[in-house]
Amino acid sequence: MSSQQPIGIFDSGIGGLSVLRHVHDLLPDEQLIYVADGAHMPYGSLTPGEIEERCRRITVFFIDRGAKALVVACNTATAAAIENLRQDFSLPIIGMEPAVKPAVEATGSGVIGVLATSGTLASEKFSMLVKRFGSSAEVIFQPGLGLVEQVEAGDFDSDKTRKLLKVHLLPLLERGVDVLVLGCTHYPFLTPLIREIVGRNVTILDTGSAIAVELKRQLEKNRLSAATSSAGGVQFFSSGEIEHSQSMVSHLWGRNVVVEKFVE
Ligand code: DGL
Repeated sequence: MSSQQPIGIFDSGIGGLSVLRHVHDLLPDEQLIYVADGAHMPYGSLTPGEIEERCRRITVFFIDRGAKALVVACNTATAAAIENLRQDFSLPIIGMEPAVKPAVEATGSGVIGVLATSGTLASEKFSMLVKRFGSSAEVIFQPGLGLVEQVEAGDFDSDKTRKLLKVHLLPLLERGVDVLVLGCTHYPFLTPLIREIVGRNVTILDTGSAIAVELKRQLEKNRLSAATSSAGGVQFFSSGEIEHSQSMVSHLWGRNVVVEKFVE
């Protein structure tokens, strides 16, 4: 394994760009390859076995391109598949985890809300996380039904998205939540609307920046960090409709990018 090899990052769609942004900012010398598995999103509607199969195919795609490390930029996929991926592939694999521990540390009311896909909330990995770190607070789970689809459609600010968010968030506010965990990598793109609904007194947490720090740590530990003189960059792939992917990725990445077809 050489330090000049790329790092693979993937999600069911464009949500993982909220993680990729932090990774690119923290590790600008690294070559990054991003895969949006748009043809199979939302992962929340697949079985854990189906999600694992998608993760394996994407991991093989990255390994074929010489990846030295992998970031599963999707909470749902991490919950369903990361243990088995780590067993079967030898490169460092970093996954997402809802920020329950920092939320419990930050709460004043003692009530935290976790907004995530049903797949994440129903997973054993998540229930272990809550058991381990959430016992000193009341942890309320809220499935974010429909939100991934709104983000994928580029619908960040419509009445429909606002209404949907209110349905999910107002019951949390009524129960005294003062820290809201965004447990899905699509949701940070809805933060302006979420902030509008929850007001200024609720802390909103996501784990994108923590994942970038963890990736850096793992690269250093394995002596895999790219030389500071290297020209880093990002190559984008999507299994979904290319024109739509290209316009969405360009919009969220802040400049025109080329998205190539992800072929298995
Ligand atoms: N971004 C994924 C996550 O973090 C969304 C999963 C989905 O496609 O349902 O959970």
